[in-house]
Amino acid sequence: MEGQDTKGKIAVIGLGISGLAALKNLLEQGFDVVGIDRNDYIGGLWQFTEDKKQVSVLKTTIANSSKQFGCFTDFPFSDDVPDYPTALDVAKNLQDYAKRFDLFQHIRLGVNISRIERSKDGQKWDIHLNEKGEVKSKIEKVSKVLVCTGPWERSHRPTYEGEANYEGIMLVGKEYKGPAEFRDKRVLIVGMANTACDIAVDLVGAAKEIYISHRSGTRIIPRMMDAPPFKNTLGVINDHITGRLSDGSVKLLGGIKRFSPHGVISDGEKETEVDVVIFCTGNYFDYSILSHEADPTKLGDSSEWDQAEHSNGLMYPRLYQTLFHPNFAESLAFLGPCRGFSFAVHSNADLASQAIAQVWKGNYTLPDTTERSEWCEKNYKASLGVIKNWRTFRTGHFSAGEFEYWLNTVAGTQVNEYLGWGRKGWTFWWNDREFYNLIVRGVNTPFLYRLFEGREGGRKKWDGARKEIWKANGKVPPEDR
Ligand SMILES: Cc1cc2nc3c(=O)[nH]c(=O)nc-3n(C[C@H](O)[C@H](O)[C@H](O)COP(=O)(O)OP(=O)(O)OC[C@H]3O[C@@H](n4cnc5c(N)ncnc54)[C@H](O)[C@@H]3O)c2cc1C
Ligand SMILES: NC(=O)c1ccc[n+]([C@@H]2O[C@H](COP(=O)([O-])OP(=O)(O)OC[C@H]3O[C@@H](n4cnc5c(N)ncnc54)[C@H](OP(=O)(O)O)[C@@H]3O)[C@@H](O)[C@H]2O)c1
Repeated sequence: MEGQDTKGKIAVIGLGISGLAALKNLLEQGFDVVGIDRNDYIGGLWQFTEDKKQVSVLKTTIANSSKQFGCFTDFPFSDDVPDYPTALDVAKNLQDYAKRFDLFQHIRLGVNISRIERSKDGQKWDIHLNEKGEVKSKIEKVSKVLVCTGPWERSHRPTYEGEANYEGIMLVGKEYKGPAEFRDKRVLIVGMANTACDIAVDLVGAAKEIYISHRSGTRIIPRMMDAPPFKNTLGVINDHITGRLSDGSVKLLGGIKRFSPHGVISDGEKETEVDVVIFCTGNYFDYSILSHEADPTKLGDSSEWDQAEHSNGLMYPRLYQTLFHPNFAESLAFLGPCRGFSFAVHSNADLASQAIAQVWKGNYTLPDTTERSEWCEKNYKASLGVIKNWRTFRTGHFSAGEFEYWLNTVAGTQVNEYLGWGRKGWTFWWNDREFYNLIVRGVNTPFLYRLFEGREGGRKKWDGARKEIWKANGKVPPEDR
């Protein structure tokens, strides 16, 4: 296709789910890409690590998105993996994905990026990097950067009156790596979301007493019910915490008022003595490796956001469509700081990086800088409405539905056309009614984004998509019956 531009090197920084999807989708479009990670393995937080500086799964973690919903658009989990994969299953799936699409030859591991800044000539990005074991950093120039460093780098931890005099141990959730360290200890976990409940259950049988302190309650949902796997849900997804609360092995406390030398004061003036406090109060994206001009939290005035009751230290990034730096949309994008359109990270990262590849290739033209900045302001105003009422651990698009529609348009998946009201939609509905209904009413799977022939030069169709959609719904396609 004329006008396509795949020249110049792209650096994808971070090789978790987001970075791997991005690397694969950019390579698919003919770009020269290098994927970089500071770890000597790929997969990001799905690989358990004893490194207390890094968020990772526990050895006992089970994904809270099903394998039919939380997977890449063209790479299903294998049949022997349960509906809700273990951390090992997810880590293996990521390894297999990298092998299947020959990604390793484009990957550099054990390379830490310490700074990303515009080069002096204003044409490229300088990435400052340290190869493992080397103290001195090097600078390499690349044409474009896709930042996929993970949304959980910076731990958020509230502070309390009296904590300086507390004589026990205080940790943040990412420093918890298993129950052995806490044998016979009285442990208090602050927060009652997924990390908190996973840790509480992990401690049962080892810790002497386990408490969870929560200030606003939650909804607890098991993974499996007498219904299809969950498509979208908010709250804690945990199969064991309800039982552990019922049998008293985990006890609940209200919000902490202050610390005493031996524990915490909550629920009126009740003192609970504990040896260890683990704050599972969230983690946020870290922008500190970005120079001022590259940092999307430095664009515009976010004071109203910062002062909102629920912002809780979460910084606001101004990103066009929650992905592109508005001033450098042709060369700087992000996957991770913003929530995306779906609860499952695979779909967000895969479809968004398909769209980014199309924009950078010149197949879709974004509006100019002024319009992009105006969009960012509009999204900021809408986000203020949310943060005044609710806590959120990631900022997002003002409308998940509009965002998904936009991504499909830009990626050229034809999903909007085939599921819309036009001729393609009517023909599809008329000719393939059972399948159409399955897509619209059945399990939400990412294979949909590779089902239809895209526009010329657009993202690639995957021939296995149709069969996988039937399979995810527990059905056999008519042609195989
Ligand atoms: C315990 C846990 C369980 C979860 N379960 C689910 C789930 O079941 N379903 C779901 O949809 N989501 C889940 N999530 C949400 C989670 O965000 C995603 O699953 C996903 O792993 C995020 O992928 P990522 O690639 O964006 O980030 P990460 O997996 O964090 O990867 C980021 C990568 O960037 C690298 N990196 C960071 N900084 C640098 C640097 N300066 N230089 C070089 N490399 C760098 C890191 O080493 C890492 O490999 C879970 C989150 C947690 C914490
Ligand atoms: N098994 C799994 O698949 C799994 C396991 C772990 C994590 N995850 C995922 O990882 C992401 C992060 O989850 P998370 O549990 O680490 O973090 P989170 O969802 O951000 O939850 C933070 C918790 O801390 C509490 N909190 C925040 N600020 C507080 C304050 N100032 N004082 C008291 N309490 C405070 C919150 O309570 P309020 O509601 O009152 O604000 C909430 O209970 C989610 O996407 C989650 O699904 C998945």
